[in-house]
Amino acid sequence: GNSSSSSSTTRSIVEKLESSDRQVVVFYGSQTGTAEDYASRLAKEGHSRFGLKTMVADLEEYDLEDLDTFPSDKLAIFVMATYGEGEPTDNAAPFYEFITDESPAFSNPEDESAPLANLKYVAFGLGNNTYEHYNAVIKILDEKLSKLGAFRIGDLGLGDDGAGTLEEDFLSWKDKMWEDVGKMIGLEEREATYEPVLNVAEIEDLYAEDESVYVGEFNKQHLEGAVDAKTHSANNPYIAPVTVSREIFNSASRNCLHIEVDLSGSNLKFTTGDHIAVWPQNSEKEVDRFLTVLGLIDKRHTVIDVTTIDPTAKVPFPTPTTYDAVVRYHLEICGVVSRQFLNTLAGFAPSDEAKAELAKIGSSKELFAEYVTHKHLNIAQLLEKVSNGQPWTNVPFSLVVETINHLQPRYYSISSSSYIDKTKPTITVVVESIEHTDGLDPFKGVASNYLLDLKYKMEGVETTSPSAVTYAIEGPRKKFTGFKLPVHIRHSNFKLPSNPATPIIMVGPGTGVAPFRAFIHERAAQAEAGVAVGESVLFFGSRNRTEDFLYREEWEETAKKMPFKLVTAFSREGPEKVYVQHRLLESAELVNKLLLQGAYFYVCGDAARMAKDVSAGLAQIISTQRGISLTQAEDIVKSMRSQNTYQEDVW
Ligand code: 2AM
Repeated sequence: GNSSSSSSTTRSIVEKLESSDRQVVVFYGSQTGTAEDYASRLAKEGHSRFGLKTMVADLEEYDLEDLDTFPSDKLAIFVMATYGEGEPTDNAAPFYEFITDESPAFSNPEDESAPLANLKYVAFGLGNNTYEHYNAVIKILDEKLSKLGAFRIGDLGLGDDGAGTLEEDFLSWKDKMWEDVGKMIGLEEREATYEPVLNVAEIEDLYAEDESVYVGEFNKQHLEGAVDAKTHSANNPYIAPVTVSREIFNSASRNCLHIEVDLSGSNLKFTTGDHIAVWPQNSEKEVDRFLTVLGLIDKRHTVIDVTTIDPTAKVPFPTPTTYDAVVRYHLEICGVVSRQFLNTLAGFAPSDEAKAELAKIGSSKELFAEYVTHKHLNIAQLLEKVSNGQPWTNVPFSLVVETINHLQPRYYSISSSSYIDKTKPTITVVVESIEHTDGLDPFKGVASNYLLDLKYKMEGVETTSPSAVTYAIEGPRKKFTGFKLPVHIRHSNFKLPSNPATPIIMVGPGTGVAPFRAFIHERAAQAEAGVAVGESVLFFGSRNRTEDFLYREEWEETAKKMPFKLVTAFSREGPEKVYVQHRLLESAELVNKLLLQGAYFYVCGDAARMAKDVSAGLAQIISTQRGISLTQAEDIVKSMRSQNTYQEDVW
């Protein structure tokens, strides 16, 4: 990435542990940063509470062929997220492939039957129980490590994002885990103090205007203005011109945007069904609030140099930079607040009252849920409330950088077809905001509101809503002007059948319709080109036909070009809620007929409830239509999933 790397470049973790004198390594497999955050919290806690010498390791940066020489007096902790259809995260993929091999080729196995006999490990997984392969990665890794002779200390931790209990699952697991580790290797608890791994130094004779200072550029190439000449990827976004941004609908509390970007100036390629990542930034209002509560607002543009104290740590953004740039472009300041963080912060409170109040909220799961989670409070809102607006000037900025998650790109399903236009993908975005009753500012989705503000600015209109938030739209130092978005492409397995004659059934309520718009456009264009196209059925759901019926005018056009059927479920038109899964059951005969013809089945949208109900509904249809038991029908759905004729793009 953009981060400066540590001095040593070994890819052997055993060597690294020896040379940096560490006892514990916390490996992470992380896609959106949560597993990385948990890993770094475990490393910090192990050190501050028990005096363990710990380090964090990105699995991508090590070759673990020498795991068989892992010293028996050291400990490995694995914090691994499961992603999509039971897959490891990108950074963990090579390791996962290596370790799950029938017989991994270790460098120096003493005992072929138990090559990892010296390895003691701890394991926590991040997953989502609404997915078929809940926490598959950590479960399979754990099984495999045991089979290779390694010894797990404590319970296998399973965090469930689907139930919304990830953080609490983690907290209750880790407390028991430390006890178990203590029994095994003997730990002595000490008074926890904050020991920085990063050093933040203000530089007096350098100004934000100086060319060497990062004020929002993503990396060195961007800083040098060489953005167009290079290869763009997840580590180096392309600043893409926005060619279209229009509102599909707007109502009192919601907007929906249709946005097109032009990738033709880059090496980025997409195919129908892929995702586009948009790199957002924080709003002026939230950046100001955050800097104010830390007492940094008056020196927001002071240049700071961030360096590592701990040689195994990394600086997560380019430096030298400014407080403003770090907070605006690199920290998830509106993200979920960690309860564990509050106890650390309490030590830096501006008054005894604020300290007691924050510690109280941090020590109780119930109070925390009531004060923070349910109100969607961000960290700055919480701190200003707890101290009655008194700034928290004692909080070290290094603590903030080490603890708050890094701002992550947001992924959107592409809603246009690469068959029709290879260079101009579109996305379909609902702009979120949750109103509060008790005078708090509404909670606003970071990226969607950034996109809405960009659209208003493109049109030169003043934002219409009193609660609208604004963003810095132009590039730092006007390196880019006009209306552009930093993006990259993430490829997906959510794909049309390779044979266009295969029928398809699509279920996509709300913005879940996005990839299906692409599918349908593609097949209509193929039909027009004389290709034989199979039947396409779309189940679409929204509140009602006048408010949020996405792309309404397009569907009728499509039906003229190819065999196409749209089934709608408007949930708020009548006294009873009508959802896509209800309509699916009503169409049982058609659905079964198409499945028997080899139809592919697709679901896109809400993972927690909709996708689950749709999957269960499909099994029910197969059972009743074919006169077989529900268990047999469920097995059929399972085998469709494994053969990729049942595909999900859910979140
Ligand atoms: P609702 O908001 O009226 O409950 C797109 O968001 C559509 O999906 C809306 O009509 C919404 O209905 C509906 N929806 C909400 N929960 C759902 C669920 N569990 N299953 C299917 N559709 C759902």
